[in-house]
Amino acid sequence: MRLLVTGGTGFIGSHACADLLARGHEVTIVDNLANSRADVVERIAAVAGRRPRFIMGDVRDRDAMLAVLRGQGIEGVLHFAALKAVAESWEKPLAYYDNNVGGSLALLHAMQEASVDLLVFSSSATVYGDPEHCPVDETAPRRGTNPYARTKLMTEDIIADIASQRRTFRAATLRYFNPAGAHPSGLLGEEPSGVPNNLMPYVAQVAAGERSEVQVFGGDYPTPDGTGVRDYIHVVDLARAHSEALEYLVREQRCLTVNLGTGRGYSVLDVITAFERACGRTIPRKLVPRRSGDVAACYADASRAFELLGWRARLGIERMCEDAWRWQSRRAARD
Ligand code: NAD
Ligand code: UD1
Repeated sequence: MRLLVTGGTGFIGSHACADLLARGHEVTIVDNLANSRADVVERIAAVAGRRPRFIMGDVRDRDAMLAVLRGQGIEGVLHFAALKAVAESWEKPLAYYDNNVGGSLALLHAMQEASVDLLVFSSSATVYGDPEHCPVDETAPRRGTNPYARTKLMTEDIIADIASQRRTFRAATLRYFNPAGAHPSGLLGEEPSGVPNNLMPYVAQVAAGERSEVQVFGGDYPTPDGTGVRDYIHVVDLARAHSEALEYLVREQRCLTVNLGTGRGYSVLDVITAFERACGRTIPRKLVPRRSGDVAACYADASRAFELLGWRARLGIERMCEDAWRWQSRRAARD
């Protein structure tokens, strides 16, 4: 298929592009490089053995999106482009609504005008807020507990409304748990600018000596070792799910909302220990107070993704840490 991937030079989008290209799809990336680099395009090509087309552009530019959809004869869209930092979303709510909701609206308008009816959307487990119980399934109540989460809730609702109005429109809403790891080639991975918000890239930078210690946010949660528990999912597994969701939309001609996680929870200390094994170094850590807005535990019931897509995670926490460490080491050498 001829596909548009918004945010395709970003962390998850770049892995999805590599997977889609390897399956024989034609890929056009639109990214404004707000949080990624243009040289990712070459690295995607090196991994996939085929080049994506790259267009520097902003999803909020409806006319530009329409021109891409028509000009490239696009048949389906994978929409990753968004801002994603929770703390920043409290500081700049308008920027988040504008980019994430406004960007999705402009894209959806252009898709309607160009009669493009297939969409795969990057949602997040953040829509569950503080889940009443874990594992959390797709029927659990949704709660937007911060502006970033609310942009995902709103976009999910907009997509559902369009699907109920336009008979031909098919969307897959994918709720990622905690994406981690990197491509095993060491060519693709996460490039956090400044201090990483997320645990795994932070641990990787401490392991590399770029930061002095991991701050463990809270040791008094009602979890087995008192630290927060999450469902870390390898980005390569996640990428594969996008191709499979797209195939589902084409095959079944119906919409889909699924969790993408492993179904297993790991604590902060589990992650640090697994990373120490992967890098062969001791990782200094210090217990500090809880981070505001964090939940004790969140891990997926991922059974629907298996039932509908035949997808399940294959790579565990050890591989996530090994691949994240390889990426960290190569990146330090490259920069
Ligand atoms: P990322 O920042 O690495 O990638 C997003 C890409 O979108 C970047 O390359 C950025 O330059 C681009 N972009 C942002 N706004 C744009 C705009 N207006 N026009 C064009 N390009 C734009 O983030 P990621 O981790 O790859 O996340 C991808 C998607 O998955 C996002 O929608 C994010 O909200 C969602 N998600 C991420 C996580 C996570 O932990 N990484 C978890 C759940 C959901
Ligand atoms: C965060 C976001 C969430 C988003 C998810 C994936 C917040 C409040 N939530 O979730 O909306 O969907 O990222 O991008 O930001 N931790 C430490 N020290 C650190 C960093 C993290 O102890 O330096 C702990 C956290 O308290 C948590 C776990 O590690 O228990 C994972 O944290 P993180 O990677 O930030 O992901 P989430 O908190 O799940």
